[in-house]
Amino acid sequence: MQQQQGRYRELPTLSSTVPLLDFSSNDYLALARSPALCKAAAQAGYKYGVGSGSARLIGGTSPLLRELETRIAKDKGAEAALIMSSGFQANSSVLASLLHTPVLYNKPLVFFDKLNHASLYQAIFLSQAQMIRYRHNDMQHLQDLLSTHQQSTRPKFIVSETLFGMDGDLVPLSDMIHLARQYQAFLYLDEAHATGVLGEKGYGLAHSSNLQDIPHVIMGTFSKALGCFGAYIACPHYIKNYIINACPGFIYTTSLPHMMLGAIAKAWDIVPSLTQERALLFSYADTLRDKLHQAGFNTATSSTHIIPLIIGDENAVVHAKTALYQSGIMLSAIRPPTVPPRTSRLRIALNILHRLPDLDQLLAALKQL
Ligand SMILES: Cc1ncc(COP(=O)(O)O)c(C=O)c1O
Repeated sequence: MQQQQGRYRELPTLSSTVPLLDFSSNDYLALARSPALCKAAAQAGYKYGVGSGSARLIGGTSPLLRELETRIAKDKGAEAALIMSSGFQANSSVLASLLHTPVLYNKPLVFFDKLNHASLYQAIFLSQAQMIRYRHNDMQHLQDLLSTHQQSTRPKFIVSETLFGMDGDLVPLSDMIHLARQYQAFLYLDEAHATGVLGEKGYGLAHSSNLQDIPHVIMGTFSKALGCFGAYIACPHYIKNYIINACPGFIYTTSLPHMMLGAIAKAWDIVPSLTQERALLFSYADTLRDKLHQAGFNTATSSTHIIPLIIGDENAVVHAKTALYQSGIMLSAIRPPTVPPRTSRLRIALNILHRLPDLDQLLAALKQL
């Protein structure tokens, strides 16, 4: 069926000969190749071994994990944090466990941004909760839907990314928190793309101290701006204890490798010091967006370093990506089902190694399409 629709996906083979200007990676802070992270990974490996050897509840809870969880909880203003194997696993399994009807005694209602990531959709699918989708970032629509269900005694959840990975725009967080409080809804926030690049210290947009009276989970990943792998959730103690006891995606998997944990801890240390780099990243994004607008491109609602170029037609996007690749520029072609029909796009992801001439080279190539 995907073949018929022209949506069949194949793994790309990257050429080692064409020098690529890469606008496709989520390594926004260029930490993946940082010598400091490589060294920290090696040191953790020599001290504890490469892999952890078992699941968290067996022998897989190393001192490295405990220290990192304590640190993350503190920096996110949360009572507790829990490290998960990947962002996809965190969303699909933690959220599904929170939505488990027998535990809630009632089938939950999940108010869900239409453009949320596939891993969040997966949680709804697994839990068979009732999903009520609201228009992307439309707080009025969310409020209307919450108010329609106000009299319902079913547990209510609001689920959203904070920085949308395919659109590069931000959730109106304080309005959303206000609605969660007003309608007594549980708030689940995904900071996959915000982690490392947003917030005063770079640890993301959401802080548990602003959510104290609201049951919540803040999830973030180490796989994008932190240049590593894995994810965390920050939450109240009772939720952490529940996940440890009831979430199969936490219980029945080997904990992250020690070497990865060493690198993550180093990345977490470095992130607050990258204030100037973040400022430069956002100023380059503003510059590029302005130039793209002047050239007639549609960047939709992007306001960050993730800039979609909406093209619409699926085949046109794939052709554009191929043409750009042949001229030495790599970016991603994003099509349904990752994004809604008729919004196929090229996705530009800036990182702190990009320089103004790189942006000009990208712009010139885009104008040639
Ligand atoms: C918004 C969002 N959440 C979760 C994930 C999954 O994270 P990971 O790649 O660490 O599994 C992604 C990855 O693309 C994402 O964009």
